[in-house]
Amino acid sequence: MANQGFDVVVIGTGPGGYVAAIRCAQLGLAVATVEDDRPGGVCLNWGCIPTKALLRNAEIVDLFHRAEEFGITVGEWRADYAQAIQRSRRVADRMAKGVEFLFRKNKITLLAGVGSLKSKSIVEVKGKGGVEILEARRAVILATGSEPKSLPGVAIDETQVISSNGAVRTETRPASLVVIGAGAVGMEFADVYRAYGVEVTVLEALPRVLPLEDEEASAQIARLFTRRGVTVRTGVKVVKVTPGKGSVAVEIDAEGTRETLTAAQVLMAVGRAARTKGLGLEALGVTMDRGLVTVGPTMETAVKGIFAVGDVTGRQMLAHKAMAEGVVAAEAIAGRSPRPVDYGNVPSCTYCRPQVASIGLSEAAAKADGREVSVGRFPFTANGKAVALGETEGFLKVVADKRTGEILGVHIVGPEATELIHEFAVGRTLEATLEEIIHTIHAHPTLSEASLEATLAALGQAIHI
Ligand code: NAI
Repeated sequence: MANQGFDVVVIGTGPGGYVAAIRCAQLGLAVATVEDDRPGGVCLNWGCIPTKALLRNAEIVDLFHRAEEFGITVGEWRADYAQAIQRSRRVADRMAKGVEFLFRKNKITLLAGVGSLKSKSIVEVKGKGGVEILEARRAVILATGSEPKSLPGVAIDETQVISSNGAVRTETRPASLVVIGAGAVGMEFADVYRAYGVEVTVLEALPRVLPLEDEEASAQIARLFTRRGVTVRTGVKVVKVTPGKGSVAVEIDAEGTRETLTAAQVLMAVGRAARTKGLGLEALGVTMDRGLVTVGPTMETAVKGIFAVGDVTGRQMLAHKAMAEGVVAAEAIAGRSPRPVDYGNVPSCTYCRPQVASIGLSEAAAKADGREVSVGRFPFTANGKAVALGETEGFLKVVADKRTGEILGVHIVGPEATELIHEFAVGRTLEATLEEIIHTIHAHPTLSEASLEATLAALGQAIHI
């Protein structure tokens, strides 16, 4: 006999889970959520939000270094890393409280404990106060997220070998750091630590940093990080990591040559693995593929009534993709016919400085797809607002179909790139062509004029370059 019955039980309250829960409640369903950590999941507590707070600190530290450029004389100053971490914790706490508020507002029950499926409609919650059994009359939504991966044979001890989880909690910084992996996690933390004076080396197995981005974006970021004093090594495979007394040895294979690097600490940033252990999925027949839960277009798994959203389903492990999936699952459960998530139109954003953002296909991918492309570029050095801000590094690049003007991809390195990308996200949703963008008046002076100019450039009509 269940202790309590609900229409929907959501396991996990990260961006996928909490958004799914709220949308279910909006559609009139009685919802319970189960959380074994803190409301808001990794994103709000240990991921997206605290790292953005730390990156803001890094930006301010850099501005202090540049004070003279703005005619400002600064006396003795000190950037306290412990206080940066403390600030990021306050930011994360505030956002997590926001989730609790939204749950109360939408009359969503929040249960603390570890959830698992006993049958397709019974969820067991093991909490501090004992075990509770919930009945999910309509559906269960799995939104258990992911956790940092490590390399084979390397244990993350969060002391010498840390993950992003440890990094956002640790108030001390090492003198030197080797970052393994130049994806979003690796590059964002390299940025923060470097701003606070750490000797940072980034190692990436693939030939370039941020390897999922357009090649020009990767090249620009590698150049700028190098200029800032970060040692960037690509095409380098980490073979062994050995923690020792006071330092860690990192053995690498650089195109056939073995080398050993040492640093006070190693940050493991080689990707994340879905959290599915102990949920009871195999016994119920939920299909998995390489550790990820398989779902259809409405986010339903192979078992009717069990849905999965967010990192646990893989594809892009991004909070905003998880939220979109949460809405689709909720609407499907409520009997609506939601529009499936458009995985080809998910913005990719890395918040290092300068920021990197993209949507759609890279130039190389568009060409590999057999498209004849026209490419327009605009450097922020030629954008008045960027010059006024003193943030001129980077460019905006538009890749379009030469014949139809369809916008195939947009790639930005530069100030507020992660905000600018949405003009093209909306444009692509509306199936806008280059012509529609150029007939849209962009305010002057704005960073957004770079979007207009790069689009004009793709048509051979750029005015300001
Ligand atoms: P990732 O998969 O994006 O990048 C990991 C990198 O490590 C890859 O480039 C890979 O080639 C490299 N690598 C793997 N094994 C290696 C080895 N032995 N030696 C050297 N390099 C090696 O994973 P990341 O950065 O850990 O992020 C995890 C997930 O979280 C991703 O899906 C990412 O998109 C997401 N995320 C997104 C953020 C954002 O949108 N701003 C911020 C942080 C994470």
